[in-house]
Amino acid sequence: MTLRSVISGVGSALPRKQVSNAELAERVDTTDAWIVERTGIRNRHIAGDDESTASLATAAALRAIEHAGVAAADIDLIVLATATPDQTFPSSATKVQAALGIDDCIAFDVHAVCTGFLYALSVADSMLRSGNAKKALVIGAETFSRILDWEDRATCVLFGDGAGALVLSAEETESGILATKLHADGRHNDLLFVDGGPSTTGTVGKLRMKGREVFRHAVVNLSAVLNEVLTAAGLTTAEVDWVVPHQANARILDATARKLGLSPDKVVVTVDQHANTSAASVPLALDTAVKDGRIKRGDVVVLEAMGGGFTWGAAALRY
Ligand code: UT7
Repeated sequence: MTLRSVISGVGSALPRKQVSNAELAERVDTTDAWIVERTGIRNRHIAGDDESTASLATAAALRAIEHAGVAAADIDLIVLATATPDQTFPSSATKVQAALGIDDCIAFDVHAVCTGFLYALSVADSMLRSGNAKKALVIGAETFSRILDWEDRATCVLFGDGAGALVLSAEETESGILATKLHADGRHNDLLFVDGGPSTTGTVGKLRMKGREVFRHAVVNLSAVLNEVLTAAGLTTAEVDWVVPHQANARILDATARKLGLSPDKVVVTVDQHANTSAASVPLALDTAVKDGRIKRGDVVVLEAMGGGFTWGAAALRY
């Protein structure tokens, strides 16, 4: 037996308000047909004034804690991935900690945009296996609606808000997280970025993206990192039961699966309902597939994501 990080529970939370493609077409020059054909997106959730990254993260965390059957007080580590924190500081992780009533634990945010959840998972996994913590909340939570340019049809139709969370427990087992692989290449940070920040403009800024170029890199990087993580875990693609990818675009999911020779039936797709929720998309999709019974205990699951930076990464696990 080996000390590994096991997923004890999953949870997610979405804002109350939903926005269809048809509603967006009333705001910008677009159509439902264009959005569906180019992206697969049909719907997204948008945070209201009383909802925020930390409030959605807290709701998702509570569901993951309940699903795991543990007490909030058992959590000794919170790693929260977000590019849209409630405030520049303190970290949203500490806001979740306070909302959960946890007196003392390690809590911090991780920022790797859409790859944030994979980075957070990898960091939490390392801290559990090194004995720095025993039970972690790993959360991806975003409110990208706050940083969208609602006049820019090329980006505002692509994103949504939401949160997903896992409880990870350190256990002596042969299951759990088998391998993680992370990458970054900062030479591409002008292809997907926000044109503001506390140390430059002093404003929050708006998301800007050269979509076609991001798309081109995404398929290459994602298929490479999936192969890399499977090799590190000693697995073949034939042994994979489920791929839970970052939900950016249905065409990226199809192209990546094809490149790896994976059946599209094994790919969990939620982009149609949630759009791109950045760091929240992988745990949101994982929660969806666990709760609807597709992902079962013992299944081999691979997670992957790619985003601004560029950053990209993958994890292989036995659920
Ligand atoms: O999560 C981080 C990772 N992000 C991604 O993975 C995003 C990757 N990129 C993509 O998913 C795709 O590139 C997009 C969905 C963003 C765009 O699809 P595309 O097939 O690459 O389209 P395009 O940007 O090349 O634009 C094609 C045309 C353009 O018109 P012209 O120049 O051909 O006349 C755009 O102006 O589509 C136009 N267009 C739109 N038309 C209607 C762009 N946005 C829209 C829109 N509605 N919303």
